[in-house]
Amino acid sequence: MNDTFLKALRGEETDYTPVWIMRQAGRYLKEYREVREGVDFLTLCKTPELAAKVSIQPVDILGVDAAILFSDILIPVEAMGMRLEFSEKHGPALSEPIRSRALLEKLIVPDPDDDLAFVPDTVRLLKSQLKVPLIGFSGAPFTLATYMIEGGSSKNFLFTKKIMYQNHGIWSGLMDKICDTVTAYLRSQIKAGADVVQLFDSWAGVLSPDDYRKYALPYVKRIIKELKNDGAPVIYFVNGCAGLLKDVKTSGAQATGIDWRVDMGEAVRKLGKNMVIQGNLDPCALLLSKDDLRGKVKDILDKARPAKGHIFNLGHGILPEIPAENARALVELVHELSEKG
Ligand code: CP3
Repeated sequence: MNDTFLKALRGEETDYTPVWIMRQAGRYLKEYREVREGVDFLTLCKTPELAAKVSIQPVDILGVDAAILFSDILIPVEAMGMRLEFSEKHGPALSEPIRSRALLEKLIVPDPDDDLAFVPDTVRLLKSQLKVPLIGFSGAPFTLATYMIEGGSSKNFLFTKKIMYQNHGIWSGLMDKICDTVTAYLRSQIKAGADVVQLFDSWAGVLSPDDYRKYALPYVKRIIKELKNDGAPVIYFVNGCAGLLKDVKTSGAQATGIDWRVDMGEAVRKLGKNMVIQGNLDPCALLLSKDDLRGKVKDILDKARPAKGHIFNLGHGILPEIPAENARALVELVHELSEKG
């Protein structure tokens, strides 16, 4: 087993900097599109043989140092009782968004080993085939709450902030149910064999630091604390983290994933020497020439050096428009430029 990624997460010396790519299984890979031609996205997530197959594709094609479970952050939300649809054009849609006490009351905390059994089944299948560590994941509570209250993606998060500011009972009731769901869901992935888990806080960056401390961070801390004895390190990814780093530092996670809008050097200084850092190349930098890309990769590697450890990644998910060979070139560059000795 290639354990470079796990060593870096523990802050141990590694021969080179490990790299994986957020959303590394996806439409930019022709091999993924071939699988997707025959099956809709949710069926793909819920069929362990197919989900495992597409999780492994980027490991074979790109040579990344970790695999990530193929699923979506909204899968457990569906199991909580909301109707979920994905459309090619509009992305995810959840019907009857949670904006009332009555709809909140109807949500359940699912039993992941029963209602979401295809997830631990996929994890077990992957573990029997992988030669790199496996990352399990969940959406972080604030990010999940935005989808549940908006009913899909959003620009201004008006409904979310309205509940947050005007109805504390619904907000805290919803966040409690999400926390219980996420904790059990991640625990089930770890029990099935996930080596590491990542919490995706894709929308936390739309909060002021004060509101982040009040409405989002305490729930992240609660989940990470609950998972303390489950044996898998936690990576906490916060998109739009620049103004929040001082608070993100206190999450309790072993590693923090950062987006590209913040300078790596500044992030390392603010997160301190005891934090492992993951990130943070602009996903669009994969459109640069190889020479220009080399310069960017080198800059990030250099600036991350004072951190406790560094896992190279993009600052957010890879885009469907990126040529797969550019992603492969990135993995090679990271390995080449960081190789010791
Ligand atoms: O990283 C991986 O390779 C694992 C798979 C993964 C997916 N979604 C597959 C996916 C992961 C980790 C996610 C997380 C996810 N899903 C997040 C958090 C990360 C982030 O990007 O901020 C969010 C916000 C979602 C919600 C979501 N899922 C949206 C908004 C969309 C539509 C936009 C889009 O990219 O199409 C999805 C769909 C989705 N999730 C696809 C994939 C491969 C595309 C579905 C398809 O095949 O058509």
